[in-house]
Amino acid sequence: MKPINIALDGPAAAGKSTIAKRVAAKLSMIYVDTGAMYRAITYKYLQLNKTEDFSSLVQSSVLSLTYDEEKGQRVILDNQDVTDYLRENDVTNHVSYVASKEPVRTFAVEKQQELAEKKGIVMDGRDIGTVVLPEAELKVYMIASVEERAIRRQKDNELRGIQSNVEQLKQEISDRDQYDMNREISPLKKAEDAITIDTTGMSIEDVTNEILNLVSKF
Ligand code: DC
Repeated sequence: MKPINIALDGPAAAGKSTIAKRVAAKLSMIYVDTGAMYRAITYKYLQLNKTEDFSSLVQSSVLSLTYDEEKGQRVILDNQDVTDYLRENDVTNHVSYVASKEPVRTFAVEKQQELAEKKGIVMDGRDIGTVVLPEAELKVYMIASVEERAIRRQKDNELRGIQSNVEQLKQEISDRDQYDMNREISPLKKAEDAITIDTTGMSIEDVTNEILNLVSKF
């Protein structure tokens, strides 16, 4: 197989990271979770008492990704491994706002494009097929019903020892989708040449196999 990049976009909690990780492992490719980058910047934004100076925020930030055999992608911000803080509610509730800011997007997109230069990357996010890697060989747009996404998120939370309410999760997921789809810069949308997979009712294995099947055509 020739080296390719795979762009995987879609709304919140559609299972993109779970699938991207599996596809990357099967194909010995590197998985890049771009949401984690926006979450790391959001973590710093909260530490800086919600500064509105987004240019200074990113200019003062040194952000890199490292890979741990066991733990997978780690996010290093200003010499600190912040990965374990990135799924906290406070970060989740502010990340769409922070990710809508132009300096933040420019900063993150540049890093993402650098990472993908050598190919062999499976990258998930909201604007990968449209803005970050418009030349990606394979683009997939993953969707699922809000109901199913909320239930999946609740199960994920349970595994992490966090109790959550499905109705509240549905509301939070829909709100985040609306924000991500309607922002001015790089809104969440399907690239024209992306293949849509509706994962509602599909198992992780089925979705993974469907993507591997698409890859096998290269
Ligand atoms: O995939 P995630 O839930 O970790 O993403 C968190 C937020 O980051 C999401 O609500 C929107 C933003 N995001 C983005 O704007 N562009 C990306 N490529 C990835 C994430």
